[in-house]
Amino acid sequence: MKKVFITGASSGIGLAVAKLLVAEGHEVWGTSRNIERIPKMPRWHAVRLDLSDPRSIDQAFNAAVAEAGNFDVLINNAGAGHFDSAELLPLETITSQFQVLVFGQIQLMQRALAHMQTRGEGLIINVTSLASRLPVPFMAAYNAAKAALASFTMSIQLELGNSRVHVVDLQPGDIRTEFNEGVSKSATADTRYDAKITKTWEVVERVMKNAPGPDLVARHVLKLINADRPPPRITIGDLFQSKIAPLIFRFLPQRVRLWGLKRYYDL
Ligand SMILES: NC(=O)c1ccc[n+]([C@@H]2O[C@H](COP(=O)([O-])OP(=O)(O)OC[C@H]3O[C@@H](n4cnc5c(N)ncnc54)[C@H](OP(=O)(O)O)[C@@H]3O)[C@@H](O)[C@H]2O)c1
Repeated sequence: MKKVFITGASSGIGLAVAKLLVAEGHEVWGTSRNIERIPKMPRWHAVRLDLSDPRSIDQAFNAAVAEAGNFDVLINNAGAGHFDSAELLPLETITSQFQVLVFGQIQLMQRALAHMQTRGEGLIINVTSLASRLPVPFMAAYNAAKAALASFTMSIQLELGNSRVHVVDLQPGDIRTEFNEGVSKSATADTRYDAKITKTWEVVERVMKNAPGPDLVARHVLKLINADRPPPRITIGDLFQSKIAPLIFRFLPQRVRLWGLKRYYDL
């Protein structure tokens, strides 16, 4: 039985992961900004956490670790996106995306790492995104924040060397969740990008509707938790997004990558 701290356990990927882990006999501390959204079940503890507030992050983690004693696994999963043209993005929106998707996640990872290093073992799973490598148009701050967390994760992997504390960069492609409903949009008066924004959002919604469900991610997370030497990075999604696109993209010149992405989003 492992003790697991998972953020964003009220919906989508986090909810599916928490459900599976509890069903497998693990004990889960799952977070939401509103703990009423966390299912009431044995071995499932609700924790209030808002990644936009650094004090909330420390309070949540300290209270949970005091109750649990220690955590074998941290899953940095919570997140939400913002959709608007990069040219017009207000600095405060970019800052807030980085607070939730990068700074808050790093804060939590550092707290967990301190405990895990003392015990000499542990697993941290950072849920970044395939968008860190194949950006979604009009989600510049989100793409950049996910790329930043992926790069930070790789740096920690280098520094940990052969430690028995493992950090995994889990990159979902499109997974059918409530994610699009949580995406915020700015009301700008500028109409230059309107047509492209509408087209891109149509593609984003269509792809999400046909994407695999979050149970797929949950099954992969369970495998990671049971592995002696988990892989440093995994990509999860349909066959095209998880295997074919990343493989092809690795060998293409940047100009061709951009051409492919513009075709994909009909821009
Ligand atoms: N679905 C996809 O296609 C996809 C693809 C790539 C990466 N991802 C990543 O996967 C992770 C989970 O997303 P999902 O698809 O499961 O979306 P979701 O269904 O919208 O769930 C998001 C979770 O994050 C929590 N959350 C949102 N903002 C938060 C904040 N400021 N502070 C604390 N918690 C917050 C929400 O909890 P409350 O609202 O209850 O607080 C919710 O539990 C995210 O990091 C997302 O970027 C998703």
